[in-house]
Amino acid sequence: MAPQLSTVFTGLRFANPFLLSSAPPTESDINIMRAFDAGWSGVVTKTIGLHPVVNVKGPKTKFMRAASGSYRLSMDKQPDAALHSSWNWELISDKPLDWWVPRLGRIKKAYPDHVLVASIMAGSEDDRELDHWQALARACQDEGCDAFELNLSCPHMDRDDMGSNIGKNCELIETVVGVVKAVARVPVWVKLTPNTTDIAREAGAAFKAGADAISSSNTFTSLPLIDPNALEFEVNVDGLVSYGGLGGPAILPLSLAKMAQMTQAHPARSFSGIGGIGEFSHALSYFLLGCGTVQVCTAAMLDHAIGPNVIKGLIAGMTAFLERHADKGWRSLDDFCGLRRDRIVEHSRIKRPDAKDYHGGHEAPEGYASPQVAAKPEVV
Ligand SMILES: Cc1cc2nc3c(=O)[nH]c(=O)nc-3n(C[C@H](O)[C@H](O)[C@H](O)COP(=O)(O)O)c2cc1C
Repeated sequence: MAPQLSTVFTGLRFANPFLLSSAPPTESDINIMRAFDAGWSGVVTKTIGLHPVVNVKGPKTKFMRAASGSYRLSMDKQPDAALHSSWNWELISDKPLDWWVPRLGRIKKAYPDHVLVASIMAGSEDDRELDHWQALARACQDEGCDAFELNLSCPHMDRDDMGSNIGKNCELIETVVGVVKAVARVPVWVKLTPNTTDIAREAGAAFKAGADAISSSNTFTSLPLIDPNALEFEVNVDGLVSYGGLGGPAILPLSLAKMAQMTQAHPARSFSGIGGIGEFSHALSYFLLGCGTVQVCTAAMLDHAIGPNVIKGLIAGMTAFLERHADKGWRSLDDFCGLRRDRIVEHSRIKRPDAKDYHGGHEAPEGYASPQVAAKPEVV
């Protein structure tokens, strides 16, 4: 039987489990419709809020590359360098809700079978802010949005009551999720920040308040490097920088660890994996840990702004994977989702060598350069 890429996640049907995440690729109706035409089954809009947004002067995102054959890591354009990460300090959409509302409706009318998830954000310090969450939710679902993703994860916020500052506080998570659930007629996904010590706890708080799924990771708190010649941060405005977010290949293993902590603690729940995905093998790691969909940002930004080649590769990769494993009876994501979730165990459960094979850590080290033998001093 032919491989089946379609899947159902939080009750919604997706033609494939690949979405664009909330970020520049989904910052406009034009981009979103191009993304659907390119093959993405769903998108999460750039985060929409009710507070005024003014971004910093100059570039909001830069890409860091690693040179081959040296340790050089820089945002400078270097020949033969591989992508290491994206670094950004972009805020949420600077377009007001009024700009978004008619566009959301038009997108949904033109693409009724694609999944349009509205990413929304407000504060949490008083009832007025909590009302904003409900106003955003009502406006987006009235235009036909299929789900919400609550942005409790943006790492660069000026306000204490917003973004990852909510995602770091279980009480605030419960309050905000509860407020949105009270008016939502569609599934509510919660995008958590990876910048905490126990993300499984925060996921638990979101589920307790009624969340239908967790998305993770948003970017990891980080700084650009300091240029060794100019002695200035590689991104700065008048010499000043602020904490921003790291995305792209560098965060893939970090984000997988965060995801595993959550899927192990809440194995019956729904998760959307994000962080460092550029090809199917990356998405597969998230699926094998128990994710039912995945989302992509950095790789898509670097591929014609919405990732036409990335989505082509993801679809081809999943089709080939299912064909390769057809003999096991695998026809769809359901057949292999979560298969490796339980392989992560406490360190003490990892087998040690038998005493006779153990050389106290002095066996030939794998992957290290062999130790240089110091030259003998000349005897005169
Ligand atoms: C320039 C830029 C802007 C972003 N804006 C948002 C946003 O508005 N809302 C949000 O939830 N995540 C935002 N993100 C985070 C991404 O959606 C994604 O979670 C993160 O980049 C990790 O995925 P990646 O490794 O594929 O880039 C942004 C990321 C970048 C690079």
